[in-house]
Amino acid sequence: MTYNPLGKKIEQSKLKEGSTSWKSPSNIALVKYWGKHGNQLPRNASISFTLDTAHTQTEIKFYPKEDNELIEMEFFFEGEKNIAFGTKIRNYLEGNRNYFPWITQLALIISSTNSFPHSSGIASSASSMSALIMCLMDIESQFQGEPLSVKKASFLSRLASGSASRSLYPQLSIWGAHPNIEHSNDLFAISYENQVDSVFADFHDDILIVSAKEKSVSSTAGHKLMEENIYASSRYEQANHHLEELIKAMKKGDLKTFGEIVESEAMTLHALMMCSNPSYILMEPNTLNIIREIRAFRQRTNHPVFFTLDAGPNIHMLYPSDLFDEVVSFTEEYLLAYCLDGKIIRDKVGQGPKKI
Ligand code: PMV
Repeated sequence: MTYNPLGKKIEQSKLKEGSTSWKSPSNIALVKYWGKHGNQLPRNASISFTLDTAHTQTEIKFYPKEDNELIEMEFFFEGEKNIAFGTKIRNYLEGNRNYFPWITQLALIISSTNSFPHSSGIASSASSMSALIMCLMDIESQFQGEPLSVKKASFLSRLASGSASRSLYPQLSIWGAHPNIEHSNDLFAISYENQVDSVFADFHDDILIVSAKEKSVSSTAGHKLMEENIYASSRYEQANHHLEELIKAMKKGDLKTFGEIVESEAMTLHALMMCSNPSYILMEPNTLNIIREIRAFRQRTNHPVFFTLDAGPNIHMLYPSDLFDEVVSFTEEYLLAYCLDGKIIRDKVGQGPKKI
């Protein structure tokens, strides 16, 4: 597969000031992307639920400027100028000028807010990068008069943060080439909306915040450590096998198999961290306490309530919507004490980015 959506300059006479604003969700991987190569290419295929509540909202105001080939932008996070994030975005734009040749014709003021704590293990890069890219794509579309391409947005989000490529579509997204999944590829994610049992269309994901501290090892460093991990090749095989089995189970509405695979993926991700060199642990004692409680609840009630983890200590508790009331009572009685200041984000499967 080749896909290289290069951009073009804006016609000088069309330049004018304006603005755009997009809200884009986080996503939670059911089969994890962990290990990459080349220019942000995944070592295995992954699938995720697009979330609803956990999101980033980004606004870009743009003003015509002299095209001196310099990128002019300022970045504000939660109302305050943020140099660190601003530099990250600037580096991304510098490195990907071919896709945004018009970027030097406009001065940008970018403002962003998250609905959840930054670096808390919730994939903030997925929502923030996809929201940024949707704004940039929207500016391009305003000037070029072509409809905004979600495929291109996924491609460009991938170049910023791999998992961000999956936040662009409603419900379910697959990213990474898999021999048995039509159209799947490493360059951009594809939608898997409405292709599984309807129980998953509004599946719940309660995010139990165990810690909101900055991660001790970033995802970028974690991906890198996979290169030397002695289990890497069997992991990539396992992930592709899991994806195939998970999709079969989801099509049948087989929640038991769904849960087995999803929990195995979470444990594998963290096991890979623990056995990398140097070894590191992102789970906290309360991560394990919550996992034990969820397993005990499942044993007691036989309810299909499962957990998964991102690269962080927080638990994503997954369950069908008809169990909501019961799970809320269980959470209050058994889990709340393990959460940081009792913090829970009650999320569910969502519909993808929205223009504000
Ligand atoms: O998109 P990145 O580079 O931050 O990597 C994220 C990897 C995981 O969140 C751990 C798994 C995934 O597939 O989202």
